[in-house]
Amino acid sequence: MNYSLIATAAFGLEGIVHRELEQLGYEARTENGFVRFGGTLEDAFKANLWLRTADRVLILMAEGPVMSFEDLFRLVRGSPWQELMPRDATIPVSCKCARSQLMSPSDCQAIVKKALTEELMAYYHISWCAESGPRFPIHISIHQNQARVMVDTSGDALNRRGYRTWNGEAPLRETLAAAMAMLSGWRDTTPLHDPCCGTGTLLIESAFLASNRAPGLKRSFLMETWPKVDQKLLERYRNEAKAAFTPEKLPAITGSDIDPEAIELCRNHIHQAGMDEYIQVSVTDLNALQLPEEKVQFLANPPYGERLSDQKQCLALYKGMRGLLDRHPQSHLAVLCGNPSFERAFGRRASKKRRFYNGRLECDYMLF
Ligand SMILES: C[S@@+](CC[C@H](N)C(=O)[O-])C[C@H]1O[C@@H](n2cnc3c(N)ncnc32)[C@H](O)[C@@H]1O
Repeated sequence: MNYSLIATAAFGLEGIVHRELEQLGYEARTENGFVRFGGTLEDAFKANLWLRTADRVLILMAEGPVMSFEDLFRLVRGSPWQELMPRDATIPVSCKCARSQLMSPSDCQAIVKKALTEELMAYYHISWCAESGPRFPIHISIHQNQARVMVDTSGDALNRRGYRTWNGEAPLRETLAAAMAMLSGWRDTTPLHDPCCGTGTLLIESAFLASNRAPGLKRSFLMETWPKVDQKLLERYRNEAKAAFTPEKLPAITGSDIDPEAIELCRNHIHQAGMDEYIQVSVTDLNALQLPEEKVQFLANPPYGERLSDQKQCLALYKGMRGLLDRHPQSHLAVLCGNPSFERAFGRRASKKRRFYNGRLECDYMLF
């Protein structure tokens, strides 16, 4: 069966998710905060396995205008839940309402659950739903009286690739790190270096990207527990992804950080990502960093100096980054920074700039 599928994304990343879906062979449409595409359950799995910059993949089961609880009930009853769910499905429901007639999430949750369980009871000829089987988390979104009822196929959010055990001081989301690597203009024949590598997210995501390593290869997805999914096809997709991984041609991917503890964590993450052979890191102050190569793609997420007391140090660090680029004159720098004074301290205007959010922090992504 063909479903309407949705890949959700953080603000600013929708366009990249759209591009990724097209590269996977799907026709995609970008809407507010998500990208819509069509496919089977197994296509949803493929998207989970391969999308680097999306947060989740959802199945859109029902969509339409709702002005009352009756409307919502009817909308849910009209959808083919039995195609997806077994008789013992466990169905947690969550809801967000905004600028709509229906503004009580808990009431909407109760209505949707009632409609859905009635549908399953009628189809399976049972008098109650035991909810002892696989989970099918339902997300309801009601915005300006338009409802969408979706089922989550991912489970843990897609940024959880399975290699991170500890977040460090200021972790960068894996999805955003992947987007930075994709938008940097990096040609994967050029050496790449992160001079403030922290726990290594940018290095690992860049190495995944350049070696065609599916980001979800080492983790599972909730939908793999669903009985109506073609397990053989999923296994085939996983095997194809394993075969597609070609790390042999990776250029030098290296990182450094002034903090020895961060480098220790970074090494753990690189090991857990299975990339020890391909990524080298060291404890080095950026101001003393000199790489053997002349042409390098620098990729960095320096500290932002949120506390006033850190400001001076941060501005000096940004100036130091300019020195680093000057010492490697044929090189490029792509940097994500939440400090509006970055360009001033760096002493040059970015040739390209776009706005992202790192968690709740508004950041500029800049190319030099
Ligand atoms: C925002 S964190 C980077 C987080 C990283 N992207 C990650 O995924 O974990 C900034 C890093 O810059 C490092 N740093 C600060 N001053 C530095 C310097 N002078 N030289 C090198 N690294 C420095 C900090 O130790 C910290 O790990």
